[in-house]
Amino acid sequence: MIKHIDNPNGHFLYIGNTALSCILKISCGKAELLHLGAPLAEEDCEALCGDTLLGWGCDVRYREGDPRSCLDDLPLAWSERGTGDYRETPMELLYEGTDICPDFVYSCSGSLKREELDPVLPHARGAQETVKLVFRSANRLLQGLSLELRFSLFETALVRQTVLINDSDKPLQVTRLMSACADLHGCFTVSTFDGGWIRETHMHTVPVTRSRTVNESTNGFSSNRHNPGFLLSETGAGEDSGVVYGFNLLWSGNHCSSVQRSALGFTRVLQGISPEGLCLDLLPGGRLETPEAVVAWSDRGRNGMMKKMHRFVNACIIPAAWQYRERPVLFNNWEGTTFDFNEAKLLSLAGKAKKIGCELFVLDDGWFGDRDSDTAGLGDYSVNLRKLPNGLEGLSKKIRALGMQFGLWFEPEAVNPDSECFRRHPEWVLSSPGADAFYGRNELLLDLTKPEVRDYIVESVSGILDRAEIQYVKWDMNRHSPVTGNKAYAYILGLYEVLHRIFDPRPQILLEGCASGGNRFDLGMLCFAPQIWASDDTDPIERLEIQDGLFSLYPQSTVGAHISAAPHAQTLRTTPMSTRANVSFFGAFGIELDLDRLKPIEVKELRETVAWYKQHRKDFQFGCFRRNRAEKDALCWQAGDEDETLCGLFHKLIPAGPEIEWLSVNGLDPARIYRVEARPQLLRLAAFGDLLRHVTPVELNADGPALRLADRHYPMRDGGFSAECSGAALRSGIPLSKRFSGTGYDAALRVQGDFGSSVFCIKERT
Ligand code: GLA
Repeated sequence: MIKHIDNPNGHFLYIGNTALSCILKISCGKAELLHLGAPLAEEDCEALCGDTLLGWGCDVRYREGDPRSCLDDLPLAWSERGTGDYRETPMELLYEGTDICPDFVYSCSGSLKREELDPVLPHARGAQETVKLVFRSANRLLQGLSLELRFSLFETALVRQTVLINDSDKPLQVTRLMSACADLHGCFTVSTFDGGWIRETHMHTVPVTRSRTVNESTNGFSSNRHNPGFLLSETGAGEDSGVVYGFNLLWSGNHCSSVQRSALGFTRVLQGISPEGLCLDLLPGGRLETPEAVVAWSDRGRNGMMKKMHRFVNACIIPAAWQYRERPVLFNNWEGTTFDFNEAKLLSLAGKAKKIGCELFVLDDGWFGDRDSDTAGLGDYSVNLRKLPNGLEGLSKKIRALGMQFGLWFEPEAVNPDSECFRRHPEWVLSSPGADAFYGRNELLLDLTKPEVRDYIVESVSGILDRAEIQYVKWDMNRHSPVTGNKAYAYILGLYEVLHRIFDPRPQILLEGCASGGNRFDLGMLCFAPQIWASDDTDPIERLEIQDGLFSLYPQSTVGAHISAAPHAQTLRTTPMSTRANVSFFGAFGIELDLDRLKPIEVKELRETVAWYKQHRKDFQFGCFRRNRAEKDALCWQAGDEDETLCGLFHKLIPAGPEIEWLSVNGLDPARIYRVEARPQLLRLAAFGDLLRHVTPVELNADGPALRLADRHYPMRDGGFSAECSGAALRSGIPLSKRFSGTGYDAALRVQGDFGSSVFCIKERT
């Protein structure tokens, strides 16, 4: 509900539903934020005004005689420098090179129409209600300049946006315009999701203090350094209790958010585009619309907040054609072949992938131009006929004849100097004015701010999509930007235009975003691409951290997650196939290794794995996600609902002489009786090495031909477990069967070892 309330105490705006509420008061023409968080009633408006002593000592009053006009002391939903609020500002305007205070004063409000939204920026869909508050400049020089604060109420989140409209006759420059500003009361920690290539979205938590904590990306993209999403948790909040706010931004470029506690105990939260190097012209008649900023709130800890944020992303961000639609099991050739393939090799992989149960075959990098390595070919769209003599059309027809969908990799934003595209159009390269372009992964970026470059990409990619009947696209981008500020900002708008033009008319294509893994994992991209490749790091133990971080902000269906080879290419870590699968189940699941090199036992295991996964795919991808209690160094992820839920229990290093391990499962009906069944997993004989000679009747060498042959064909079962009990018992925890500890082997033993894991299916007993 959105409601304006006028009474002798002032003008209030109540925005709220059962998930959260936001209460504003117009105080001396400014937007005071009385509340943002718990779902309160409209009757609470007045009590929230309080009667605290404001404007003491050297404080400045915006209106002399009105102690409530000391803006520095008020919680605000917007602020500007030069009005007496000395906290970090959400806006900076220049007039004739000088900082100017427009002094925006509330004028009117109304609902927001779809046509008023910028057609290029991504927007969340399906708001319950919207309102815009219009403020007009009281500065004599800037008559006609106005500010719009937009609020859109969704079922489980609030979305905000800021618009500056220059109907004055003065040219202005904008060096900062945030999407949202909010002053919250409470003591918080802030959790950010940071990293780099192959170590994205590791969560870091620090207390919010009087010093500013900034979460910012400046590499041109939302970045693998600092994801735009972050959490604020009230001191003491845990997985299932306490207040947690989740914040995020629908923007794929440089972003900036900051939190800082004020002298009176408010935490100022700013979210928006990074102001670094930004100086945008706002000429008379011009307007500037920020990306949308999201906030979700829960008093049920991180799990409660995730539930709301995931629902918002699944229902309001993901393109309509893919909402809650199960993603196909994907096979990708990249980690198996890199650039070294031909049609025969691809068809061999596709045939095996089909037998294993994969539904979509994706041809990754290397199908075009002279692309035998990452030094040539980017920017060209001619098919490499040496590798693919029957072209893409011929290959895709054969793949489809196998009963699989066909998908293709592109990196349309980049160009190699060794390409036809670059030789014809060196002037298309993105660089800072007058400076030489510099390389990343042997490539340069194309200047997407140029209309002719956008046209080239749209025409080239669309042509291929239509000719080869492509059902999936992996849209990659593999370097940081060479530009900052205005150019980097305009680049992202150019990218959005290109994505609209290619994919709006082809909603049936499943688009997967990628940027060297997770260098552009954000809500802006998710408005076009229902899933994003989370990281080039597919080591499941590394992925536990990466995916765990992502799940704090993004639902499982958005996170591309594949089984790859062991030992792993980046860590050399050897992990069981079962763990590689169990981690990838929690995501948009796929397989990415050379199937021609697998042992028969591994093929069998993958076939069983994929068949089992398909029975539970909906819950893994769209079920309510939560983290549960687990022993030290272990992690327990859960996805599902009251009828069926799946629990992944993951170990890193296991201790000798381990304590009894318990399985705790939340979110079930305490009164119903459930059956708990561990996913059947295989154990390789080779795991025991020379220890086997203690159990074999004749002494065999672990490295000898007999055991090597046995290892290729005959698995043992591992991790078997079943039980029946109430939802209440599962919540409190049930003991799992004993673990290997040098005690021999029997069928009820969970051997597993370092990096071992299990997935339990918990289903109501019928
Ligand atoms: C990036 C992607 C990989 C793969 C390669 C191909 O690194 O993240 O998944 O597509 O490019 O060059």
